[in-house]
Amino acid sequence: MKKILFIVGSLRKDSFNRQLAQEAEKNLAGIAEVTYLDYTDLPFINQDIEYPAPSAVAKLRETVANADGLWIFTPEYNFSYPGHLKNVLDWLSRPLVAYDFATPTVMNGKKVALSGAGGQMATGKCREKLTELLTFIKADVMAEPQTGVTLNAEAWTEGRMILTDEQRAALKAQAEAFVEYLG
Ligand SMILES: Cc1cc2nc3c(=O)[nH]c(=O)nc-3n(C[C@H](O)[C@H](O)[C@H](O)COP(=O)(O)O)c2cc1C
Repeated sequence: MKKILFIVGSLRKDSFNRQLAQEAEKNLAGIAEVTYLDYTDLPFINQDIEYPAPSAVAKLRETVANADGLWIFTPEYNFSYPGHLKNVLDWLSRPLVAYDFATPTVMNGKKVALSGAGGQMATGKCREKLTELLTFIKADVMAEPQTGVTLNAEAWTEGRMILTDEQRAALKAQAEAFVEYLG
């Protein structure tokens, strides 16, 4: 079974994007093995501490290297991706051997699926910029399908995200398409 690493781009305890990831996970039951990336102990990228890699960074790279694909569920912050998600990707973009830019990074050719829950744009701007960044670091982004969810009114007022049947179907179709994309 293919191994998919879920990366939730929100640190919030009741994150809607985490809820979206949990919904997607249900669709992968029996067809892929899902784990969630814990990056809470990851330091901010700082070239003073880059080599040798801090243990949290080494662990992050190993976790990503062992996954067949990554599925990112992220909110949109100011028409872009959250800074802490960029921090994860910045660490992953760096060569494993100091200044040896010829060595492939763990992101080289890594297949990535994108989804997100947010406001009116359904995280479209964030996913667009994330695609640009991921492509720059040589990841292989599944352009389509992606699932963008515009949060319902109750989500904003009561903290409850309720997906429509259409959104659930889109997430299921994306899960199936991603497993196929992984080959
Ligand atoms: C700094 C910041 C900037 C935000 N900018 C946007 C935005 O550009 N577009 C959007 O749809 N939502 C924006 N939001 C609202 C988030 O989409 C919303 O808080 C969402 O619930 C966060 O996802 P989470 O529940 O997974 O944490 C922003 C929130 C924060 C904290």
